[in-house]
Amino acid sequence: MTTQAARVREMFGSIAARYDIANHLLSCGVDFSWRERAARIVTDWHPHSVADLATGTGDLALALQKKLPDAEIAGVDFLPEMLELAKQKGLRQPVLADAMNLPFGDGSFDCVTIAFGLRNLENCTAALGEMSRVIKSNGHLLVLEFSLPTTPILRALTTLAIQSRNFQVAMQCVS
Ligand SMILES: C[S@@+](CC[C@H](N)C(=O)[O-])C[C@H]1O[C@@H](n2cnc3c(N)ncnc32)[C@H](O)[C@@H]1O
Repeated sequence: MTTQAARVREMFGSIAARYDIANHLLSCGVDFSWRERAARIVTDWHPHSVADLATGTGDLALALQKKLPDAEIAGVDFLPEMLELAKQKGLRQPVLADAMNLPFGDGSFDCVTIAFGLRNLENCTAALGEMSRVIKSNGHLLVLEFSLPTTPILRALTTLAIQSRNFQVAMQCVS
């Protein structure tokens, strides 16, 4: 395991129990509508199988389960603490695995999703390659991620805040 992966595991392992509440408070509850919108986009693709990577406590996977009751929705995370919480919230198919090395065959899913997870993966390009491997041809990938504001002053302030907190930011727009 790389030091970055170990750091990410340690960080999310230590906040797992408080993750949901922190998330909702820090975003003033807006994170619900972001995942809801993402789930609507995925629903319009009518997938039969979806893998939600870095699923955490499962909020996006659960929104998908609700909108696509007949689809197979796998929630994948490498932290058992996070998956346990997702299971308690009703996630039907938790999978303990590293997004960099997925335990699925080529072309296993109609769709792969990842919400606020891409920036935590140690190698964004390799991670996207692994996602593309498990997606069927003509399948879909949905990445929900923060982006920088377009207004110059807000953009500069956000960049400063990110740098001062030593976050690593990876931004991709994939459709
Ligand atoms: C910011 S949380 C996002 C959780 C959820 N997707 C959401 O929308 O709230 C990031 C999650 O990614 C998981 N994670 C980070 N690196 C991972 C990896 N390489 N493989 C699988 N899960 C990973 C962490 O354990 C954590 O649960």
